[in-house]
Amino acid sequence: MEIRHLRQLADAVPVAMLVVDRRSRVIAANQAANAIFGPSLTDRPFVTVVRHPSVNHALDWVLDPESGPPPHDDPDLPPPGPTIQKLRATLSAQGRDRACVVTVGPLVIDGARGASIAIEDSSGVEQAEQMRRDFVANVSHELRTPLTALMGFIETLRGPARNDPAARDRFLDIMEREANRMNRLVADLLSLSRVEGDERRRPVQDVDLSGMVRSVAATLAPAARNAGVSLDVEKVPTEPVIIAGDNDQILQVFHNLIENAVKYGGSGGVVRLSLAHVPHEPVLRGPGWAVTVADEGEGIDPLHLPRLTERFYRADTHRSREKGGTGLGLAIVKHIINRHRGRLRIESEKGQGSRFTVILPERKGRG
Ligand SMILES: Nc1ncnc2c1ncn2[C@@H]1O[C@H](COP(=O)(O)OP(=O)(O)O)[C@@H](O)[C@H]1O
Ligand SMILES: [Mg+2]
Repeated sequence: MEIRHLRQLADAVPVAMLVVDRRSRVIAANQAANAIFGPSLTDRPFVTVVRHPSVNHALDWVLDPESGPPPHDDPDLPPPGPTIQKLRATLSAQGRDRACVVTVGPLVIDGARGASIAIEDSSGVEQAEQMRRDFVANVSHELRTPLTALMGFIETLRGPARNDPAARDRFLDIMEREANRMNRLVADLLSLSRVEGDERRRPVQDVDLSGMVRSVAATLAPAARNAGVSLDVEKVPTEPVIIAGDNDQILQVFHNLIENAVKYGGSGGVVRLSLAHVPHEPVLRGPGWAVTVADEGEGIDPLHLPRLTERFYRADTHRSREKGGTGLGLAIVKHIINRHRGRLRIESEKGQGSRFTVILPERKGRG
């Protein structure tokens, strides 16, 4: 292959790519390579661009098969062959460390031996892996807490409380509460994974927002009343407001938000629900409908606001546990709203209550 063709090819490849000659001098580098290693890479010895012993060793072997294979210690990658080699390396360039997968292969350029070096930045993949590990660790921890309580009580019921009916009843009540907590956690996890699974599919059902908000409010009113909270639906129109959505999911959004307002903002005694038309919502790039759930409780410290929709994030862990929360309610809400191409706005001031607003796009061809 001719060198100018190689340069064209390298520029068409989305990963960083360098080509070196027989003496491991860089003779071509694409833009993705410049983005990682900086400008003016050609004519430099490869070792001055990528300083990594395993990569340099792999390149030596490709350029000179007599020099022998580099050590192989990564069980996830195939053992190096004499022709093409893949390895993982953390490369430092322009003041940054990047986890990369490097592929080194032979090339014949203008009749002479050379090599290509392709470098994929895998930090995004590793970050996703790390998030997955954190998630599993969190789930295990959340399940273990009620499980430990259950196991402790089983032991007590077998031993010291065996012949104490009063204690037995009390312990069974606690065990039931803990088992319910595990049940809710599993249900929320399943619902989160289902929502994530559909996130790319556009919801197509007709959803009546005003009917939905009123019906969730009616369902939750008795429990709210028991907690000393009234649900005010005065600002929710009585006529239907139809959007394109998923009925079960939208129901879950309002259910979770109203439940939170009662649980955490209930000290204000009232939770106000409203539904209003928004002529233009910048994030939606168009008109929408806004449902607001506003409480007059203690409010949320601004410090917590940006992280509230993360899985298992709670402003007050103790309080959430005591109220039987799973820490997943708002994460589910956020995913459902994303699927509906809407937005969630959270406003709160300490001592002034909180407002959770869901804005969903208006159905096209309204009417
Ligand atoms: N209306 C509200 N007022 C005050 N804090 C709230 C309100 N809604 C949610 N929060 C805070 O956000 C956290 C996360 O809510 P959520 O994801 O529904 O989890 P959970 O209710 O299971 O704890 C809650 O633990 C609580 O600290
Ligand atoms: Mg909740």
